[in-house]
Amino acid sequence: MNEVRYDLRLPTTSELAELTRLYASTFGEQAATQWRARWEWQFARGPAADRSDYCVASLNGAAVGQYALMPVTLWWSDREARAAFGTDAFLAPTVRGRGAGKQLYDTANHAGFDVCLGAGITIDSLRVLQRLEWTDMKTIPMLARRTSWRRHLSLAGLRQLVSRSRTKPGARDVDVHIAKTSTIGTEFDELWRACRSGFALCVRRDAAYLRWRYQDVPGKAHTVWEARRGARLVGFAISCLEPPGVVRVGVIDDVFTEHTDDRARDALLAAVLQDFRSRADLVIAGALHDGLRASLKRNGFTNWRPEYRLFVKVHSVNKRPLESVGRWHITLGDGDLDVPR
Ligand SMILES: CC(C)(COP(=O)(O)OP(=O)(O)OC[C@H]1O[C@@H](n2cnc3c(N)ncnc32)[C@H](O)[C@@H]1OP(=O)(O)O)[C@@H](O)C(=O)NCCC(=O)NCCS
Repeated sequence: MNEVRYDLRLPTTSELAELTRLYASTFGEQAATQWRARWEWQFARGPAADRSDYCVASLNGAAVGQYALMPVTLWWSDREARAAFGTDAFLAPTVRGRGAGKQLYDTANHAGFDVCLGAGITIDSLRVLQRLEWTDMKTIPMLARRTSWRRHLSLAGLRQLVSRSRTKPGARDVDVHIAKTSTIGTEFDELWRACRSGFALCVRRDAAYLRWRYQDVPGKAHTVWEARRGARLVGFAISCLEPPGVVRVGVIDDVFTEHTDDRARDALLAAVLQDFRSRADLVIAGALHDGLRASLKRNGFTNWRPEYRLFVKVHSVNKRPLESVGRWHITLGDGDLDVPR
């Protein structure tokens, strides 16, 4: 028997050890170490996780590849749908290039999901997704803003400073109060329920999801910001610092409010930027939603590369959201775009 098998289940301990070795030879040792450190969190402990949301490819009883799915509950059009971000697909070089990739992706994507998403994919993956007729949503726009000009005093930097000083900040709402918090409680569930229908697509951002995604993730320390009008929670933002490098990078993982609430969005962004002023040289954000992108631009952000490519496969729900991608709330906190690699 010399045929690759595709099983929808989590890998066994010995398969996971073999897959980690394959991961290292495909993506590098450091990436594999980080992947292994977050594996249980990412694939076995999420609030929407199910033991069959994973496709193991094997040949003659040995693991030769995988396609891992990060299940999420997705607001899609006018209802919640079962969805997953496809991630970490690879096959041993000996079985590549003869259709096994297509089979692997196809098996995984028929694991009962209404919608599958692929973000930040490689060229190999792109070819498979094109062959399987996923819809190409182009890219998740990336935006950036410099915070400390002293470390980057160049002509380009000066130009950016001048353009930034001309940027008109959004009108500040004195009634919106921003604070850091370490408590993600039931108010976040209420906020999610109140805001979700304003989006055509948005991963369910309730308390259980947010705690798992930002407080339980290994190897990252996120700051949670809340926006309140009076006692009422009207939005939140999530930020974190990348590991120290030549340039200190601050990441805005999410800014979530009612889709029309520019003032709360602007106030959250202003607070996060103020916090990064002495700790980061560059602040980056990804924003597919038109409202969030406009807010970032009002706060001095400009377009930045690279952008993450985004593909989607709709299985068993209506396709209306494909027509209104400007109403999709996808940020760097979605999928595993911001996890250490
Ligand atoms: C991604 C991956 C799993 C795909 O598996 P695969 O076995 O190579 O894919 P398939 O053989 O099913 O190929 C699917 C299609 O893409 C084409 N294709 C695959 N690799 C290609 C390449 N390097 N150049 C041109 N076309 C290619 C195949 O010809 C096939 O098209 P066809 O149906 O017209 O024949 C595998 O290439 C891999 O492990 N790559 C390295 C890791 C990686 O980049 N993972 C993706 C992370 S997002």
